[in-house]
Amino acid sequence: MSAAVLGATGMVGQVFINLLSKHPWFEVKVVAASERSQGRKYSEVTNWKLQSPIPEKVADLEIVDITPEAVGDVDLVFSALPADIAGKIEEEFAKSGYIVLSNASSHRMDPDVPLLNPEVNGEHISLIDEQRRRRKWDGAIITNPNCSTAILTLALKPIYDEFGINRVIVSTMQALSGAGYPGVASLDIVDNVIPFIRNEEEKVQTETLKILGTLTNPANFKISASCHRVATLDGHMEAVFVEPIRKPNPEDVAKVMENFVGEPQKLKLPTAPTRPIVVRYEEDRPQVRLDRMEGNGMSVVVGRIRKDPALDGVKFIVLGHNTIRGAAGCSILNAEYLKAKGYL
Ligand SMILES: NC(=O)c1ccc[n+]([C@@H]2O[C@H](COP(=O)([O-])OP(=O)(O)OC[C@H]3O[C@@H](n4cnc5c(N)ncnc54)[C@H](OP(=O)(O)O)[C@@H]3O)[C@@H](O)[C@H]2O)c1
Repeated sequence: MSAAVLGATGMVGQVFINLLSKHPWFEVKVVAASERSQGRKYSEVTNWKLQSPIPEKVADLEIVDITPEAVGDVDLVFSALPADIAGKIEEEFAKSGYIVLSNASSHRMDPDVPLLNPEVNGEHISLIDEQRRRRKWDGAIITNPNCSTAILTLALKPIYDEFGINRVIVSTMQALSGAGYPGVASLDIVDNVIPFIRNEEEKVQTETLKILGTLTNPANFKISASCHRVATLDGHMEAVFVEPIRKPNPEDVAKVMENFVGEPQKLKLPTAPTRPIVVRYEEDRPQVRLDRMEGNGMSVVVGRIRKDPALDGVKFIVLGHNTIRGAAGCSILNAEYLKAKGYL
């Protein structure tokens, strides 16, 4: 199937290009970005930040405008556009009949738009039917969560299903690539931690409840997030404190996490990691540099599962790759899931 990537030159756009260059089902045929880049070759305008070279098939593609007319005939559209412009543009594409898989926050909280982390809430895919009815369009917008939320919800899902949740407190340590390029100035972040990421705490709090909720109602527990930018390149680490409804011991939590698989694993989707949650038992894991590429960047790694005396529950560390599980990888897995469910 042919795909277009909107915002193909940015941090997330580059990860899309890289992951899709090896994809068995989807091939990038169109790349779109801002006026600055339009009309020029992808390899000329992209400040490529990944270790592997720009895939040959994309290097010579000419960048086009982010409109349905310029993008033309493709089977699906991946969007890695900044949120301030993504909303309207993605609607234009959906109105024109395209399936849009978006990384932007613009439509995530719309009640008729799936906010999909497919191992966690695959059943929310049926919101597409509601969206088409309400908005009278043939296309669709499907969003994936904010990076920290994608990682957090995967770790919480087995706890939520097995033991119930009353309360969650999460403190994040977020990598620089999460801010896009050029992101945070080096003079601000070297030798430093910045205890503020605009709108991030609100996103983690609201998106988590939508994802773990039903089609019509958010999950009914309290959640508080504190988000921090740290000087790592890729990989968000999160310290999570959970007050479950029933009272499991840490070994019970480790077991349900290790045994957890979702529908993408059962369907053997190409981007689905064999184990969505990898549990480590060493006292000092997970670590950002060592563990962020687990499951090709699609697994989250959980460690230090222990009793939490303050919440009478458990606490643990979770690590995930922010531009793969937290962005482009999740979007591609969503597209595979849509195809498996007959929406593509
Ligand atoms: N980075 C992450 O870990 C992460 C995780 C989850 C979600 N997201 C979300 O994903 C989206 C992309 O993030 P990013 O980090 O990749 O940002 P980025 O590095 O700043 O890239 C932005 C992309 O959008 C294009 N663009 C900017 N303004 C445009 C305009 N007016 N018209 C057309 N194209 C325009 C840029 O093209 P030019 O090169 O031509 O300027 C570039 O391709 C954002 O909504 C972000 O919140 C990011």
